[in-house]
Amino acid sequence: MLEVAKLDAFYGQSHILRGIDFQVAAGESVALLGRNGAGKSTFLKALLNGGPQARGRISFLGQHLTREQLHQRARLGMALVPEDRRIFPKLTVEENIEIGGRAAPTGATPHSINDVVAMLPMCGPLLKRLGFQLSGGQQQMVAIARGIVSRPRLLMLDEPAEGLAPVIVDELADAINRLRQTEGLSLIVTEQNIDFARETTDRLYLLDVGEVVFSGSWPEFDARPDLVDRYLAL
Ligand SMILES: Nc1ncnc2c1ncn2[C@@H]1O[C@H](COP(=O)(O)OP(=O)(O)OP(=O)(O)O)[C@@H](O)[C@H]1O
Ligand SMILES: [Mg+2]
Repeated sequence: MLEVAKLDAFYGQSHILRGIDFQVAAGESVALLGRNGAGKSTFLKALLNGGPQARGRISFLGQHLTREQLHQRARLGMALVPEDRRIFPKLTVEENIEIGGRAAPTGATPHSINDVVAMLPMCGPLLKRLGFQLSGGQQQMVAIARGIVSRPRLLMLDEPAEGLAPVIVDELADAINRLRQTEGLSLIVTEQNIDFARETTDRLYLLDVGEVVFSGSWPEFDARPDLVDRYLAL
């Protein structure tokens, strides 16, 4: 459903991504691993045309993307949950989630709040709270709720487990896996947390200084312990 070929991305004169080939099949979940500054967020933003200048080929649901702006790509069915979560502090959780519905494709009805709570039950008790009253884990759940309310076909989670306590990370992984089953979503999960990525994805790409240095299944990755030492250890 997503095919990226020879993608380069730039911030001004800085050449950040080089020749990225990347695919996601319908219903598939794929991890993008890499240490700080590897280019994970730049890749997701390039897919959405949300910041970097990109060159190369991106096709999404059979459509070749060229100049479509971020909001147009959202309407095609791409949704990003950014690494900084961007919860509006003075809006309620319910309002924060509803804002995501504005990205629904023309003619499509966003999920109701009740549907979203059924998919992410931990949001239920929080609906009337204000954004600034949430813990980090709660913010992440609400950010994901805001991402899925528009019924995206491809959900991109940028380091969802970052900064969360292990018990919350487990809950988050369960929530993501339930969403995959019920919604038939395709997913891209960027992570430095290998265990979380393993729990929530089918296979992985490894990025280092803007280039893909490995792609394969989790067993293939595990057979190459040098990869962790070289590209993921601090
Ligand atoms: N807005 C920007 N302008 C210029 N350079 C940027 C910008 N955003 C990121 N970069 C640079 O692009 C490179 C890749 O950054 P990116 O944020 O994509 O990495 P990342 O893999 O998401 O890292 P992290 O794990 O820290 O989030 C880095 O060298 C970074 O300094
Ligand atoms: Mg990042």
